[in-house]
Amino acid sequence: MGQKVKELQLKLAEAALGGGQSRIDAQHKKRKLTARERIHLLLDEQSFEEIGALVTHRTVDFGMADQKVLGDGVVTGYGTVNGRLVYVFAQDFTVFGGSLSETHAEKICKIMDLAMKNGAPLIGLNDSGGARIQEGVNSLGGYADIFYRNVLASGVIPQISAIMGPCAGGAVYSPAMTDFIIMVEDSSYMFVTGPNVVKTVTNEEVSSEELGGASAHSTKSGVTHLTAANDLQCILKIKQLLAYLPQNCEDRPVNLPYSLEEEFRYGLDKIVPENPLQPYDMKEVIAGILDADSFFEIQERYAENILCGFGRLAGRSIGIIANQPMSLAGVLDVDASKKAARFVQFCDCFNIPLLVLVDVPGFLPGTDQEWNAIITNGAKLLFAFSEATVPRVTLITRKAYGGAYDVMNSKHIGADLNFAWPTAEIAVMGAKGASEIIFKKEIDQASDPAAKLAEKEQEYAATFANPYRAAERGFVDEVILPNQTRRKLIKAFAMLENKTVQRPKKKHSNIPL
Ligand code: HXC
Repeated sequence: MGQKVKELQLKLAEAALGGGQSRIDAQHKKRKLTARERIHLLLDEQSFEEIGALVTHRTVDFGMADQKVLGDGVVTGYGTVNGRLVYVFAQDFTVFGGSLSETHAEKICKIMDLAMKNGAPLIGLNDSGGARIQEGVNSLGGYADIFYRNVLASGVIPQISAIMGPCAGGAVYSPAMTDFIIMVEDSSYMFVTGPNVVKTVTNEEVSSEELGGASAHSTKSGVTHLTAANDLQCILKIKQLLAYLPQNCEDRPVNLPYSLEEEFRYGLDKIVPENPLQPYDMKEVIAGILDADSFFEIQERYAENILCGFGRLAGRSIGIIANQPMSLAGVLDVDASKKAARFVQFCDCFNIPLLVLVDVPGFLPGTDQEWNAIITNGAKLLFAFSEATVPRVTLITRKAYGGAYDVMNSKHIGADLNFAWPTAEIAVMGAKGASEIIFKKEIDQASDPAAKLAEKEQEYAATFANPYRAAERGFVDEVILPNQTRRKLIKAFAMLENKTVQRPKKKHSNIPL
């Protein structure tokens, strides 16, 4: 999304609230928006149609018969975002703390069913004290009715959950089963058991914010995909995200109009340093390839050694997965594998082509990684790529070592086009490690073992620290100059536009969860 579009959206949002940006920000830092304000900001002017405004709960216990509020704590309906249909629910914390009753759940289920039948995204604006305590199992059943629909809708329509207040207990599992979670900083939290229970069971003293605030979930757990400074920013991020997505699994993302120019980007020639041990910022490569200001990063502060996000290439929406040499040398570890695997699956569900940028020295060694199942988790990424049938293009910028070469969208696991820059090194491992193993005897017997190692290292590097062996075999389709990359990729994705793939008949696969 271009800067201009972002600015326009911000202006529209300001206008909707009837004030200048500074006033809005000051207001929002002080208070949460109401459910109706949130919907008003999210949807196009005059587009919201409410469903179930007159619904009230059916509970009579604990004096509830006299406490009926129209709508029962959730506003539900449909409308448009930038002219495209969406279904939305917004929990109203001012009514019984936004708690979920049987009827509250029925309202949400009704729009989920409509969203699935009509093939449009579902957006949940969550702000709730959880199961309505006065209703007992009726409320728990209501949650399960929603969970079931989250699963039915998964892969059919995009589901986005904004957490704009409390979200505790089993209530967290509905957002967890949607495609994206976005949390508002300082005013939202998510946890299965809150600080009081934690204190009782483990004697740990922790605040709600520390335990399950936006910061914890964006850096430590990876539960949330996005965070926002306030309610307004949260709504704007939802709109930005939607712009990259199709309406449903049979639809394609909207391509923005774009007329091709010469498309060479000479800045890309200067990014990879001469010293292979020196890091560089893969975000600069991404920025050099994509349309200006179009990278929309997902899980930015979690597993920073891999970058995932949406972007536009000549107006076309694509998903980008890239090793980040700036963090842990771009190594694949448990968190990076999980993060990228889920992103690959999402893009594949919704027909979003994948661009994979590779600079990976391998998998992270160590007991921590092995005991946290790098085997199973690394396999998730391998599995997700292998299963994806969307157009898949790879560019190796520098290292592609060992198993990580295979995993990172190699030709062998179904990538459509594989490019490499001349700086690419495709080998079982780095030259030093490889020489120490295969030339061990020769090095040990040499009068000057260090000099021998250096000589052998050079020999190995000359043989494998380049992309040409792979290109000879056709594992790399073309070695390209960095400045040609954007042009080549635009053509590649245009060529792959109508890709279709037949897979063996099955009920569903069994990804190593
Ligand atoms: C009924 C509730 C409620 C609930 C809050 N309220 N939560 N009513 N059921 N779950 C009501 C309060 O009684 C109060 O009513 C009003 O909402 C606002 O609540 P406050 O406590 O005054 O607000 P605040 O101080 O901001 O605290 C918010 C809160 C707290 C932290 C969410 O209300 C809270 O802890 N609620 C209970 C949370 C909980 O344990 N829920 C069940 C989780 S288990 P009045 O009339 O005074 O304004 C769960 C299971 C899901 O959800 C299972 C799925 C499988």
